[in-house]
Amino acid sequence: MVTMTNSAAVLADTAAYAAAVEQASVAAAAYYATGESALDDDAYDRLARGIAAYEADHPEEVLAASPTGKVAGGAAVGDVPHTVPMLSLDNVFSAEQFATWTASLERRIGRPVTAWSVEPKLDGLAVAARYRDGRFERLITRGDGTAGEDVSHAAGAVVGLPERLAEPVTIEVRGEILMTNDQFDQGNAIRTEHGGAPFANPRNGAAGTLRAKDRAYRVETTFFAYGALPLPDSGELGETLAELPHSEVLSYVAELGVHTAAGTDVAPVLAATVEEVRARVDAIGSLRAALPFGIDGIVIKADLAADQREAGSGTRAPRWAIAYKLPAVEKITRLLAVEWNVGRTGIIAPRAVLEPVEIDGSTVGYATLHNPADITRRDLRLGDQVMVYKAGDIIPRIEAPVVHLRTGDETPIDFPESCPQCGSDIDTSEQRWRCTRGRNCRLVASVSYAAGRDQLDIEGLGSTRVVQLVDAGLVADFADLFTLEREQLLALDRMGETSTDNLLAAIETARTRPLSRVFCALGVRGTGRSMSRRIARYFATMDRIVAADVETLQRVDGIGKEKAAAVVAELVELAPLIDKLVAAGVSMTEPGATPPPEAGTEEEAAAGADPEAAGTGGTGSALPLAGMTVVVTGAMSGALEKLSRNQMNELIERAGGKSSSSVSKRTSLLVAGDKAGSKRTKAEDLGVRIAVPEEFAELVGAFLAAEEGV
Ligand code: IVH
Repeated sequence: MVTMTNSAAVLADTAAYAAAVEQASVAAAAYYATGESALDDDAYDRLARGIAAYEADHPEEVLAASPTGKVAGGAAVGDVPHTVPMLSLDNVFSAEQFATWTASLERRIGRPVTAWSVEPKLDGLAVAARYRDGRFERLITRGDGTAGEDVSHAAGAVVGLPERLAEPVTIEVRGEILMTNDQFDQGNAIRTEHGGAPFANPRNGAAGTLRAKDRAYRVETTFFAYGALPLPDSGELGETLAELPHSEVLSYVAELGVHTAAGTDVAPVLAATVEEVRARVDAIGSLRAALPFGIDGIVIKADLAADQREAGSGTRAPRWAIAYKLPAVEKITRLLAVEWNVGRTGIIAPRAVLEPVEIDGSTVGYATLHNPADITRRDLRLGDQVMVYKAGDIIPRIEAPVVHLRTGDETPIDFPESCPQCGSDIDTSEQRWRCTRGRNCRLVASVSYAAGRDQLDIEGLGSTRVVQLVDAGLVADFADLFTLEREQLLALDRMGETSTDNLLAAIETARTRPLSRVFCALGVRGTGRSMSRRIARYFATMDRIVAADVETLQRVDGIGKEKAAAVVAELVELAPLIDKLVAAGVSMTEPGATPPPEAGTEEEAAAGADPEAAGTGGTGSALPLAGMTVVVTGAMSGALEKLSRNQMNELIERAGGKSSSSVSKRTSLLVAGDKAGSKRTKAEDLGVRIAVPEEFAELVGAFLAAEEGV
């Protein structure tokens, strides 16, 4: 069962208690107003527990400002009254506390609870969305629980809140607005492009986005409904809602067209016993890291309307629901140093070296810092205590310095004056600094990358060899590999006849690699292996990729406007290299891919109606994996034994499927080899079809035969 530290701050006297209340209310006010706080969640919870413990012993001393008796979020402004208060939830942190809570609830209502709804505790902001006769009317924040702010202006960019409901009902839907990890990344990309500071974390991004009124750009968030209630003129619906079990209210809301967590891996489920609840709590806890959005716990609710009614509510929270908190994903630690690393493309990126801190089960010692401007904007200093955020697959990032913890010993962060890799000048005209030599700064790295197993796969060309070639002046980019001569190689140290001939043969083979790999070898920023495959399969030839404008590139699955613009700009820069590759006879087509129809033709108009039809590399229904999402795990065997993961993914995509690295309800097939671990268990839990490598090889037989080297 998920548990977390149970300790509470120990408050010795009245003064310590008063200071703790003050600290907690400042932190809570900041958290609910802007999503930022000087205390991380663990520290806040410890403080709140300490305050509660002190108040239990000294009830006569309880201060009005104490967080224990208040609706959380009391500091936010707002003038739209809530028809029914928007309450908060009490927390438990361990199996024992949960058992105590269920026992007290059952004692109160005088019978066992036989239906529990177990749901994700979505880490965002509570809002109420009002619909009148099926039309969206108003979006209101929780505010202090009795009145909130009108943020209707933001509703258009909230995914999951439709303009019209499926039925003309008058209803208030309550739920959480958050940023999914993708929305967070996209939002930050757009914001920094407009010169803004990146959001510290997804919750902070959602809070800022909801309040922002005059932004020149659009940032999306997502709504998840977790409840609904009638409005004064809801008519009969009011009585119906009052009697429906909570789970059915959620299904009804979903039928109306409002987004709920139902389609996610952590969808609400009903549990009949405390043991079943615990099993689901554990399951949600272990799914957390792989979720595409943040959760900070599990909410457990008595499902039946009668149970809820009889349990009633306190001033702060209902007695029929509880939040089972998961360990915090934000921690405060010290910023020890800043390293400046030069990437393959010449980008000079700062990285924070931290005093190692445990966050959500792993030790974090480094965090990304976006760019120099961002360091200045946040006034970060060496020695600062900083708030670090890490959730699931998100790379740990520094949110902000905790200014009030400064001692005066902090020192400014030095920015490099010349490229830390090669000493050349730095181009500081963009937010992201770049060595003026661009890709050439890290020539060895970029040629080695191009020759790597998942790109051109040139056996015998490791980085030591690349260093030799670069030092000898034989290679100024990876296109030069294709014009190397036998004598030039023989003249190098430790290059005998056999190794020279082997290397030349490997380079010859590389000349015929599919476009997807040649494109990947270019190292276009923001396009890795899988994106390169998608681009190559969509356009089928390099000419078409190079000719594509921002709009056309966006037709490729997963490419938005910003990425499309970045790719177009990179390709302009790479044009001379591409020309050189063409001149060297390197393959520039993707076998089996059908080019998209030319713009403006009838064919395109027809294809436009079906986004799947155009340029998906001939993914007709004849392909064995058409429409399937396939995940590979464990060691491959039989005919697949020699294939790398990348080659397996290529094979899946050539056979018409989509490759993915994580198992979810949407997975159609898991290819599980020897030593398959958690992905197999998850697939079994979700009832996903599982095939051993041999079965899979049979399924894609004809395509496998085409795979080189097999
Ligand atoms: S029920 C009266 N369900 O957590 C019941 N709340 O820490 C109140 N939250 O204020 C809410 N996910 O903003 C409920 N599945 C869920 C939730 C959820 C997130 C938020 C909500 C609430 C806060 C309490």
